[in-house]
Amino acid sequence: MSRFWKPGTEKPRIVDDEEGGVLFYTASASSSSGYGFASLEKQRQRLPVYKYRTAILYLVETHATTIVVGETGSGKTTQIPQYLKEAGWAEGGRLIACTQPRRLAVQAVASRVAEEMGVKLGEEVGYTIRFEDVTNNDLTRVKFLTDGVLLREMMDDPLLSKYSVIMVDEAHERSLSTDILLGLLKKIQRRRPELRLIISSATIEAKAMAAFFSTRRHRGPDDIPKKEPAILSVEGRGFNVQIFYVEAPVPDYLRAVVLTVLSIHDKEPMGDILVFLTGQDDIDAAVQLLTEEAQSSRNQGLIVLPLYSGLPRADQDLIFSPTPRGKRKVVMSTNIAETSLTLEGVVYVIDSGFSKQRFYNPITDIENLIVAPVSKASARQRTGRAGRIRPGKCYRLYTEEYFIKEMPADGIPEIQRSNLVSCVIQLKALGIDNILGFDWPASPSPEALIRALEVLYSLGVLDDDAKLTSPAGFQVAEIPLDPMISKMILASIEFGCSEEVITIAAVLSIQSVWFPGRGAQKEMDEAKLRFAAAEGDHVTFLNVYKGFLESGKSSNWCHKNFVNYHAMRKVAEIRLQLRRIAQRLGIVLKSCEGDMQAVRKAITAGFFANACRLEPFSHNGLYKTIRSSQEVYIHPSSVLFRVNPKWVVFHSIVSTDRQYMRNVISIDPTWLTEAAPHFYQRQLLNPNPSQV
Ligand code: CDP
Ligand code: MG
Repeated sequence: MSRFWKPGTEKPRIVDDEEGGVLFYTASASSSSGYGFASLEKQRQRLPVYKYRTAILYLVETHATTIVVGETGSGKTTQIPQYLKEAGWAEGGRLIACTQPRRLAVQAVASRVAEEMGVKLGEEVGYTIRFEDVTNNDLTRVKFLTDGVLLREMMDDPLLSKYSVIMVDEAHERSLSTDILLGLLKKIQRRRPELRLIISSATIEAKAMAAFFSTRRHRGPDDIPKKEPAILSVEGRGFNVQIFYVEAPVPDYLRAVVLTVLSIHDKEPMGDILVFLTGQDDIDAAVQLLTEEAQSSRNQGLIVLPLYSGLPRADQDLIFSPTPRGKRKVVMSTNIAETSLTLEGVVYVIDSGFSKQRFYNPITDIENLIVAPVSKASARQRTGRAGRIRPGKCYRLYTEEYFIKEMPADGIPEIQRSNLVSCVIQLKALGIDNILGFDWPASPSPEALIRALEVLYSLGVLDDDAKLTSPAGFQVAEIPLDPMISKMILASIEFGCSEEVITIAAVLSIQSVWFPGRGAQKEMDEAKLRFAAAEGDHVTFLNVYKGFLESGKSSNWCHKNFVNYHAMRKVAEIRLQLRRIAQRLGIVLKSCEGDMQAVRKAITAGFFANACRLEPFSHNGLYKTIRSSQEVYIHPSSVLFRVNPKWVVFHSIVSTDRQYMRNVISIDPTWLTEAAPHFYQRQLLNPNPSQV
């Protein structure tokens, strides 16, 4: 019996779609058996995508672009790169790339594939995420990487010439970097007819994506193999999932989650539970609440685990390891488990209906991370996660009426709700001058692009002709950080405090230096006070890092001081990488030996656009941004909470009931005009600037 379609045996159905100029390709898939304990090779052969192995290889051979749509867990990410390798796409020193929007997914998938191939991770199969390169120049043939890292690689190798096939995975997520990458890959394709693209996703608008890659609309060389993208749909074999809604909106979804888990544990047969929450804070809170409950004799057998990006490796392994007999795993996850990662053994899903999303308003120039309702498409994906191994159940913590009437059908691509400063500088560094005319899969708003150009001009990164300045612009583009942080690093050279400022840059790249909660808020606040600096959070971070070094990087010391040990190790690692980058840029690092004014000036030079002033006569700590008079407050986690210095700059904003500034430092307003005269003169003269 043949396990997959071979040309000439079962005819594939090919439909030429006139309108979009798109080829559809559907092969019939027979039903397959469940999992059980089988060898890795057997497991591989049981995945839905296995039946399409020959079809996929055939399409990739004959088409410049192949779009693969298939349910999560069907084997797209882990199998297709292996098929390509087996078919010879990595021969002759070439590489196969597979991109992911999320770092944790890159790591998890790469280690799974290395295991399946029986090779050591970092040799034949490797991965690269920002500040972590686990590949080998001579050995690596299959490389998993974030879409952002692949974009960065284009700065050294604009045609990505070492790759024979690039698989852009999770395209339905429409992450900012994915969309930029797709736009650039389309350009590269015209110069490199031999390059193959695979765009894979769980729920993609396949036709729209195919229309984007259709070369009919463009003139190009004629030797490109089959110009119209092929679409292949991998038929999954998810089991039915019964959906439950709440009868009335829940006032507190964390509490609702805990109650639902306990009720499932009480009434339902064994099977793991996957809970979709929004971010590290509510996940940690829910884990804590549930762990307390799980200690009672009634609820024994619950293993409660968090899942979010930045989770240490050991914790990741727990998530993927099989649940011990007689136990029930409860994984509290961000939307990373929606499509990027598949957890075997999940039978029950609890969907809070929310996720943390980025929203940028070009008028106020504020980018927010806010907890917002997910789309119907996301809700369906989440539900599907319950039907992996047998029929499952999904508990939606919102009403059916809300789902039907109010939930948006689809999410908005990230490029249309992001600050575009990083995006613009990357395109500029790649020589794309006409940013407004760039061929995007989804167009960003012109206002957001203009805002980004304005900020980059004020940072001294772009000149009057909107070209990168030399050397500053090129250096900022070279540093793999937010341009404001990169600018802060460059400015620190001038102020003689680069050693300190790269530590700050490293800390700003991680989630938090503190170890969350553990039900000891008071002790934690006291611990924080030991490091708290009057100048603000950035200087406090320097104190924490100093203490960490003086302790000999001791985990015990971290534990005692409520400092997150893994985060601090990461900071040390990132710092090392930044030192290397600085060296490459010819920057000599220097310490200011305690001159914190120098450090604050360097921070201001990068973050002047985020300056705020305390409202005169404000009794509740109300600040307004200088640029657009937005009302903001200092976040309670800041050491400046309730201190309320008159002038501050912040690193980021989070919105809950109010807009809160996270990571705040006090400044002298004269530094603003020094740092960015063009940007500030007008506004500072006017105490109540009108909205721009
Ligand atoms: O990409 P797609 O969602 O189509 O599937 P995949 O990520 O390639 O996963 C295929 C199978 O590999 C799933 O059944 C997963 O359970 C399994 N897998 C795993 O066991 N451990 C991992 N770290 C990754 C995948
Ligand atoms: Mg996948």
